[in-house]
Amino acid sequence: MKHPVSFAMPALAALLLAGCAAPPGTPAAAPPGYLEQARNLAATVPANLLTVLTDELNRSGPAGAIEVCREKAPQMARAASERSGWNVRRASLRNRNPKGVPDAWERNALERFDAQAAAGAAASALETWQVVDEGGRQVFRYARALPTQALCVQCHGSVDRLSEPVRAKLHALYPADRATGYEPGQIRGALFLKKPI
Ligand code: HEC
Repeated sequence: MKHPVSFAMPALAALLLAGCAAPPGTPAAAPPGYLEQARNLAATVPANLLTVLTDELNRSGPAGAIEVCREKAPQMARAASERSGWNVRRASLRNRNPKGVPDAWERNALERFDAQAAAGAAASALETWQVVDEGGRQVFRYARALPTQALCVQCHGSVDRLSEPVRAKLHALYPADRATGYEPGQIRGALFLKKPI
């Protein structure tokens, strides 16, 4: 029978050599409070945007409200980043803004959300998180699905059902737009948050 120390020592040595980073394959635990902070932001940032978007849709219709999504959404994400210290962004498997292309971690999360929704999970409840190594730094990453709601299809629904002014404006601003053809309930994208630990 082997002495337990023969297991513990190499593991300890590896830990010390790695400068206290978790050994490869061992997911580091999220620091206390990180998940709660991420969930808070994921609840407030899209809700605030929805308020501004709904107001503008009522005031100037979908073609006029395109500016809200174009200017206000990134602005509100930046403001939330500055306030909270979290990196905040939106991305999608079928992005409209060229900057909305998901990285590998984001793509994985979005594909899992789609699979979970297809298996019957409520899209609005889907979230995931993980501590990952990014260039030698441990980073807590969080994703929350953004389901397509009825009002979203005015700008993200099938092209033939968009109003003419919306279609023209989207085409002019986003010639490589891939973010149409959605039905209510489908996952439009996700809010992604990250912060070094
Ligand atoms: C008034 C038109 C309009 C409405 C309504 C709208 N969007 Fe968008 N959406 C846009 C535009 C324009 C962009 C590109 C923004 C940019 O340039 O950053 C966008 C981008 C996004 C993105 C970022 C990823 C990407 O594709 O570039 C997500 C996620 C998103 N919208 C989700 C939603 C959801 C969910 C709703 C409903 C709650 C919604 N949108 C309603 C116009 C709209």
